[in-house]
Amino acid sequence: MSGQTEGMTLDYGLLARALGTELADQGTPERLAELFARVPRHRFLPHQFRTIDDTRYDWADDPDLWLRTAYSDRALTTQVDDGADGGMGIPTSSSSAPSVMAQMLDAADLRPGQQVLEVGTGTGYNAALLTELLGPDNVTSIEVDEGLADTARADLAAAGYLPTILAGDGESPPALAAVYDRLIATFTVAVVPWRWLDVVRSGGRIVTPWAPSPGAPVGLLAVLDVDGGGRAAGKFAGALSFMWSRSQRWPSAPMPGPDAQPDQVEQVSGDPREAWLDGDMAVLLSLLRPDWAHGMGMEPGAEEPHVRVVSTSCSSWMRLHADGRVESAGNRPLWGEFADALTWWRAQESPPVTEFGLTVDRGRSVQTVWLHSPDTAVWTSHRHPA
Ligand SMILES: C[S@@+](CC[C@H](N)C(=O)[O-])C[C@H]1O[C@@H](n2cnc3c(N)ncnc32)[C@H](O)[C@@H]1O
Repeated sequence: MSGQTEGMTLDYGLLARALGTELADQGTPERLAELFARVPRHRFLPHQFRTIDDTRYDWADDPDLWLRTAYSDRALTTQVDDGADGGMGIPTSSSSAPSVMAQMLDAADLRPGQQVLEVGTGTGYNAALLTELLGPDNVTSIEVDEGLADTARADLAAAGYLPTILAGDGESPPALAAVYDRLIATFTVAVVPWRWLDVVRSGGRIVTPWAPSPGAPVGLLAVLDVDGGGRAAGKFAGALSFMWSRSQRWPSAPMPGPDAQPDQVEQVSGDPREAWLDGDMAVLLSLLRPDWAHGMGMEPGAEEPHVRVVSTSCSSWMRLHADGRVESAGNRPLWGEFADALTWWRAQESPPVTEFGLTVDRGRSVQTVWLHSPDTAVWTSHRHPA
């Protein structure tokens, strides 16, 4: 959209300032909250978008509601199925929730004069915020979808922002040398692309949503300081959920259907689903072991859902039921791994996810998850970018 305001009785400036105040009240540093109060988010949104609960907002139906929603602290889906017709409606581009964008900008610790590379331009709104903060000559953003890149570039220009917008795979930025002080990704990766370590200078920082297993439903915000020796490391700043990089949409292992036959059924005391049903705990559990993913399912006639855990590296799986049944199949002892992971975590005095961190080491082609400091590895994976 390019500044369309017909039919609106509301003043977008007031709404933008209210959004800035809301973010400041939540703890966003003032200099970042001010950006959200100044940059007109609605100018980067199409006439139709959806919220996460799949409610559709159409400017033509109710311009004021559309505008109010544009300035709410919500993620707004702006493209599904990579723009193809007749798909399943899977979100493939969005304007992220402003509070999450603020968290990422804060984690990036941006300073005047820095060169920043955003990967995942989407609507261009974040590129506008970055341009407002650092100036057009210091902001480059790459979008894999050429149509989205063109729209973002046009919307940015119409709103008076002139950063460099490139179309291409942000996992392989075209820079020839380590020219960036900061790289901010707005999609999830399970493997930090090695190329990012080439284009961010020594002492620079990579801020990216990262997930321990391909296809995981929730990721973590990795804040990685680049050391120039082909390594980057840092702690996680918390859990968050972003769409996947187009280049890392690896299919997660299929979840067992309700009629998949187990090799083994065990009866345990208590509800074996408990830890997985607690959102924070489930994020932690997904981090403690590489290569497993989880979800929920419903048996025909059951009153409560079961939790399904699958190995992403082989065909093993388990189903955890409210009545204490643990069904499992395959060679990988997932129930034993789960119990051991929980015992180990409790023995470490139950550290929060923010006490864990990640090191990516290009020379050794490994990613290591650690607790408290890079010397205390929890697991190491040799997975490669596709
Ligand atoms: C959450 S949206 C971006 C939000 C955006 N920063 C904004 O302000 O609107 C993620 C974007 O990343 C793009 N994307 C996914 N994989 C990519 C890749 N490998 N390289 C570049 N862009 C990618 C998607 O097409 C999508 O537009």
